This record gives sequence, structure tokens and C-alpha cells, in this order.
Amino acid sequence: MLSTSIEWVSLIVRWTHLIAGICWIGSSFYFMALDASLKPNPRLDRRVKGEAWQVHGGGFYQMQKFTVAPEFMPPDLTWFKWEAYSTFIFGFLLLVLTYYLNPTLYLIDPAVLDLKPWDAVGIGIASLVFGWFAYDALCRSPLGDRPVWLATVGFALLIGVFFFYSRVFSGRGAFIHAGALVGTIMVANVALVIIPNQRKVVADLLAGREPDPALGAAGKNRSTHNNYVTLPVIFTMISNHYAFTYSSRWNWLVLAGVFIGGFLIRHWYNVLHTGAKPDWRLWPAGAVPIALAAALTLYLQPRAPGDAAAVKFAQVQGIIAERCQVCHAAQPRFPGIAEPPKGIRFDSARLIVQQAPLIYAQAVVGRAMPLSNVTGITEAERAALAAWVGQGAHDE
Ligand code: HEC
Repeated sequence: MLSTSIEWVSLIVRWTHLIAGICWIGSSFYFMALDASLKPNPRLDRRVKGEAWQVHGGGFYQMQKFTVAPEFMPPDLTWFKWEAYSTFIFGFLLLVLTYYLNPTLYLIDPAVLDLKPWDAVGIGIASLVFGWFAYDALCRSPLGDRPVWLATVGFALLIGVFFFYSRVFSGRGAFIHAGALVGTIMVANVALVIIPNQRKVVADLLAGREPDPALGAAGKNRSTHNNYVTLPVIFTMISNHYAFTYSSRWNWLVLAGVFIGGFLIRHWYNVLHTGAKPDWRLWPAGAVPIALAAALTLYLQPRAPGDAAAVKFAQVQGIIAERCQVCHAAQPRFPGIAEPPKGIRFDSARLIVQQAPLIYAQAVVGRAMPLSNVTGITEAERAALAAWVGQGAHDE
């Protein structure tokens, strides 16, 4: 009862996080594309940077952008901030529910570093706060006006942080923190730069003062940074379901490849939306780091030794019973696990054989299972599972 109620809370939090995230990223994509597609029109108010015509949902829209501000305060203004704030609020809640309330299972991997639960949580939260201050300082430094340098130095530092995460957290924990860190920077951009600057502009307008164009420009800058990291951030969120992405010691390089690739592909779209023809080489340039990341995970996959002696099913059953069944049974015995996780049970021969590909993916290739290796599976046992699957996952 209790565990299902908690699962419901987790499901609703995740649902909300996802929906808010869709709204946020959707508006980021929309406004970047709108901004890029604005065409100057000399017949318009001199404050208008440009206009764009769009057709959607049975009507035509004439969009105009006032770079600094219109002459008067419009009676109704729609602000775009709650999609960002709620993505963060529910995302952070989810981080707490999944990782921080259960650090031993999800965040700590003794094979990486044997952290105490509260130390792991402390490092996680501190890294999110520190990451924002470091990024913000970088944007305010002289690098802030040199986008190419800022991106290069920013990515180099970010990859350093990925390396750090990979050496303190479990693979899953490292990936989710990479996403949470960038997501935190994105929402702080909205809450601490974009919206406050916009408020100053509105206050100036109301007071009849000429607003400072630097305020809007800084907001636009941060909003552009946010846009460029959207694709990789989503990757970190969904990669938790694909153990092969995060389970090696080189997982930080996988993240690096995805971040650089995602950035370049996003750039292709941003150029396209200006109406210019983007350089086609951006696609291969973006695809190569992602393909290298994929190749790395394939290369690192443990292979069943070709000459492995025949593995008897009884041996496999023994391994599964000893290493997996405390959690994956109709009535799990592991404290805190009230139901078989993800509905996966191994309490009959048929279930084990049926789920051989899953066992292979999670316990051999992915090494995500046993969770944090709490049951102490050995390399020889993983190899035996691999060999058994290689020999056709028979049941005799
Ligand atoms: C300490 C408890 C525990 C042990 C021991 C354990 N698991 Fe799991 N397993 C879990 C939990 C919790 C999940 C759900 C993870 C999630 O939410 O992504 C899970 C998920 C899985 C999944 C589904 C993964 C997915 O995302 O679809 C498979 C397959 C699996 N485990 C196999 C194994 C195998 C094989 C072993 C033994 C070698 C094992 N598990 C040992 C707790 C455990």
C-alpha cells in the first residue's frame, strides 16, 4: 500500500516535470525560431527590430519584436517563466524522491567511491549550486562577449564536471546530476537574469524612463545559452533507462560526445530558422561525436568468451537467486523494496529464461544490476551469465 502510494507520488511528480519541461523547451524552440525569422520592415515603428508572419490553427499572426521596449506599457503582458520554474521544482522533487531518499541504491556505487549517504547527497546539491555560480561568473567575465570562446571554455569545464561526477557517483547518479546541473543553470538563467532584467525594463517604461538595451541583450544571451543545451539535457534524462550509456568508467566521455553533438545539431536548426542555408557539415560534425560515444559503449561491452565452457542452467539459477531475487521476487526481502521493481521477477525458471535479454542488458552489458551491486555479484558470475545468454539461454 505505502510503496504503491509513494510510486503514485513519484509518477505524478515525473508526469508534471515532463509536461512542464515540454512547455519550457517548446517555448525556447519557438522563440529562438521566431527571433531568427524576424525581417526588418522600414514601415514599422523604429523600435521594432523586425516582424514575422506565421500561420497556425486557422489564422494568421503578425509578430513584431521590440528589441528594447515599446513606447508604452502594453495592457496585458504574458510572461514566460512558470514553465521553467515548475520544470525545476518538480525535477528537483523527483531527484529527491528517486536519488536523495535512497542514495545507497541509486546514487552510490561502492565500486566507484564508497560514500556515506549524506555525503553523496551533499556533494550532489553543492555541485548544483556551485555550477551555477561558476557559469554565471564565466558569463560576466570578459569571455561573456565572445560566444565561441565562452562555449569552448564552458564545455571544457562542463566535461571536467562530468569526469568528477563519474568518479564520485554511480553511473546513473552521474548522468542525472549532469542533467540536473545544466537544468539548474538554465532555470537560474530565467529566475536570476532574464526575468529580473525584464522587470527592470517594465519598471523603466512605467516610470517614463528609457530602458537600458543591455538588460534585454543579456536576457537574450542567457536564453540562447539555454536553447543550445536543450537536446543534451533531454538525453541525460532519458539515458537513465539505457544502462549501457552510463555504466562504464568512460561514461563521462559518452556525455561529452552527446553534449557537443547536441549543441552542433541545435546550431544547425538555429541557423536554418534565420532563413539562411545552414552549413550541411554541421550534421556530420554533430553526428560524429554522438556516434563515437555510441561506438565507445559498444567497444566497452563485455563479450562472452568464445570458448566458454557450457554453462548449466542450474548455475544461472543459483546466481540469480543469490544476487537478484532479494529484490526481483513476488515478495522482495530487500528493505525498502516492497514490490518487484519494474514488475520484474525471477522466481521461476520460465521467468528467468524469458527475461534473458533483460538480464544480459542490465547485469552484463549495463552493469546497472544488481543495483549498486549490493548483493556482491562477481565478475566470474557476470561472465557466466554472458556465456549462458551466448549459448542460447537454454533451461537445462
Ligand atoms: C537491491 C535490489 C535489486 C537487486 C539486488 C537487483 N535489482 Fe534489478 N532492479 C532494482 C530496481 C529498484 C529496479 C528499477 C530501476 C529503475 O527504476 O530504473 C530494477 C530494475 C531491473 C530491470 C529492469 C530495468 C529497466 O529499466 O527496464 C532488470 C532487467 C533488472 N533489474 C535485472 C536485475 C538482475 C538480473 C539482477 C541480478 C543480477 C538484479 N536486477 C538485482 C533493484 C534490484
